[in-house]
Amino acid sequence: MKTIYWTVDKNVDDVRNYPQVKEAAELLTNNEVVAFPTETVYGLGANACSNEATAKIFVAKGRPSDNPLIVHIADQQQLKQLVEQIPNQAEKLMTAFWPGPLTIIFKKKQGMLADNVTAGLDTVAIRVPDHPLALRLIRESQLPLAAPSANCSGKPSPTSAKHVLDDLNGKVAGILDGGETGVGVESTVVDCTTDIPVILRPGGITKEELEAVVGEVTLDPALKNANEQPKSPGMKYKHYAPNAPMILLDGSREWLQQQIDQERAQGKKVGLLTTEEATTFYKADVILPCGNRADLTTIAHSLYDVLRAFNEADVDIIFSEVFPYEGVGLAIMNRLEKAASHQWRKQKES
Ligand code: TXA
Ligand code: MG
Repeated sequence: MKTIYWTVDKNVDDVRNYPQVKEAAELLTNNEVVAFPTETVYGLGANACSNEATAKIFVAKGRPSDNPLIVHIADQQQLKQLVEQIPNQAEKLMTAFWPGPLTIIFKKKQGMLADNVTAGLDTVAIRVPDHPLALRLIRESQLPLAAPSANCSGKPSPTSAKHVLDDLNGKVAGILDGGETGVGVESTVVDCTTDIPVILRPGGITKEELEAVVGEVTLDPALKNANEQPKSPGMKYKHYAPNAPMILLDGSREWLQQQIDQERAQGKKVGLLTTEEATTFYKADVILPCGNRADLTTIAHSLYDVLRAFNEADVDIIFSEVFPYEGVGLAIMNRLEKAASHQWRKQKES
């Protein structure tokens, strides 16, 4: 398949964008799949009401069929057609965070969505993305768009159209290039079908921000204990993995340098994920700064690009610094732990 590539300005009100977005929307109404930017990561969109269309997402990504998709809509009007009821807590969260990086799980209305969007569950994940191009595309196609991250299954999510092209060129009908995404990690997935909302996947909206709006919010126990069965089917899969094995290092800078030196002494090409503050401190083969420790949102923004860059640098092993499990740090550490298959080295307390 030839993949059409459109370069568009993020500012969709620019009339020069209209023909490209129209062409992309037409492909979607013809049940083809098209990648587009959101404020979190690039999504791979398809008509959420068509099994034929959404099946193409699973094929292009190599995605397991038991992993349901997030449905992207433009406003709350569209929501009423897709869900059975809107609980109070959900109402408050939507008012506070939509459009934005928050996905809410609702009881689905029967017979509206393609079966493989919800993977046999009686619930559906829905969000309104905070990105002018994504909203324009949804409105132009007049469809709810099922869209997982636009990467090959298991790889880091794409934060630029180049990442999408690297993974999916020739496998999708089109890619709308609207520049780099902003948040950099995916939306927070929160289940609102229970009295107390439960975070199934940490993401761009923090637990603290949610709690400020609805009071108590809990974390799916699987987020703290890798042996628990996660409530979100997608969370059980290996994800975000760079090609080389990755190990999380918890200790002083001096101790981190010792870990690097030991591997290099064995002839290994060592990569290090650190932050801008520390790059001049370390000596390794490939040192990639990932944002600034003083502002965790900058780390989220660059994380997937840095994980992908280690593949291009062709290192034998990747060490990564670790970050606090608070604010967006919860999402960052969730992704890093997965990228590292939960492999840690901790400095012994002296
Ligand atoms: O920021 C994002 O959320 C991006 C952009 C493109 O919107 N999308 C994204 O989709 O990350 P995906 O497919 O990579 O992740 C969707 C997650 C998976 O962990 C999936 O299992 C979970 O949401 N999910 C979807 N429907 C669900 C449901 N009904 N119940 C529980 N979890 C669900
Ligand atoms: Mg994904």
